[in-house]
Amino acid sequence: MRILVTGGAGYVGSHAVQLLVASGHEVTVYDNLAAGHREAVPHGELVVGDLLDRDRLAGLLAERQIEAVMHFAALAYVGESVHEPAKYYRNNVAGTLSLLEAMRTAGVGKIVFSSTCATYGVPNRVPIPEDHPQRPINPYGCTKLAIEWVLSDYSQAYGWGVASLRYFNAAGAAINGLLGEDHSPETHLIPIALEVAQGKREQIEVFGNDYSTPDGTCIRDYVHVDDLASAHLAAIQRLEPGKRIQLNLGTGQGASVQQVIETCREVTRHAIPAKHSPRRAGDPPELVASPASALAQLDWSPQHSDLKTIVESAWRWFQAHPTGYTL
Ligand code: UFG
Repeated sequence: MRILVTGGAGYVGSHAVQLLVASGHEVTVYDNLAAGHREAVPHGELVVGDLLDRDRLAGLLAERQIEAVMHFAALAYVGESVHEPAKYYRNNVAGTLSLLEAMRTAGVGKIVFSSTCATYGVPNRVPIPEDHPQRPINPYGCTKLAIEWVLSDYSQAYGWGVASLRYFNAAGAAINGLLGEDHSPETHLIPIALEVAQGKREQIEVFGNDYSTPDGTCIRDYVHVDDLASAHLAAIQRLEPGKRIQLNLGTGQGASVQQVIETCREVTRHAIPAKHSPRRAGDPPELVASPASALAQLDWSPQHSDLKTIVESAWRWFQAHPTGYTL
């Protein structure tokens, strides 16, 4: 297929592009490089542009005879979204509407969209099935849920094939060592723990140790970024007119902040000093996916997502790229 990948220079997007290209698809990456990296697109074509540039997108879709879109481009800092909601609604919601209009103009009716477990808010129960109520507790999650609704309506009215894939905690780096995680600023648990191991930070803060979990720290479902990529490939292959896919992408296994830090110590053989800090606003105590529907509908199950493999892959990347993509 000829596929346009928005945000293909970002963390999850770049791993998906690598897999699409390796699987024989023709890929055009569209990314404004606000958070993405040119070096993260070693294969395929990179067009630098913004989602809000609808005419440019429509032209590109037509010129390249694009058949389907994978839409990763988004702002994704939960904390920032609370303080700057306008930026998030403009980029994520208005940006997506612009992309969808361009797709209508060009007659492209297939899209795989990066959604998130943040659309569930604080869950009533875990593991979380797809029909669990979606009540996001921050603007980031609201923008993603709004887009899920838009896509659902487009599927019904215009006969589009749409897939909303709700990631749990994307983690790790490409198993082949060529791609990794490079955020600025970095806020995620595993990269921060590894930066402590590398001596770039003195210690890691553990946000809250009084949650109602076995060791008192938050539990998350970490899923390897190459596994997320393979779920995207499986989803795009299954899209057909009028079909609507909404799936959780996780492992069904939770790990606590404490367990993650322990695994980072074991893998890196560094002490990784940690100190307890107050809870971070907006952190649900436990988020774990029920992966049953993804297995049933996509024949997908994670292959690289045990915690040790995730941390080992991330550590290899960090050691080979101590300053990220910009060497
Ligand atoms: N944490 C720490 N110390 C740190 C960083 C994180 O204790 O320095 C904790 C967090 O409080 C949380 C866990 O580690 O309990 C994981 O935090 P991350 O920031 O790595 O990931 P989140 O679970 O907060 O965020 C992820 C995605 C978001 C998505 C969210 C849904 O990065 O895009 O899941 O909850 F919205």
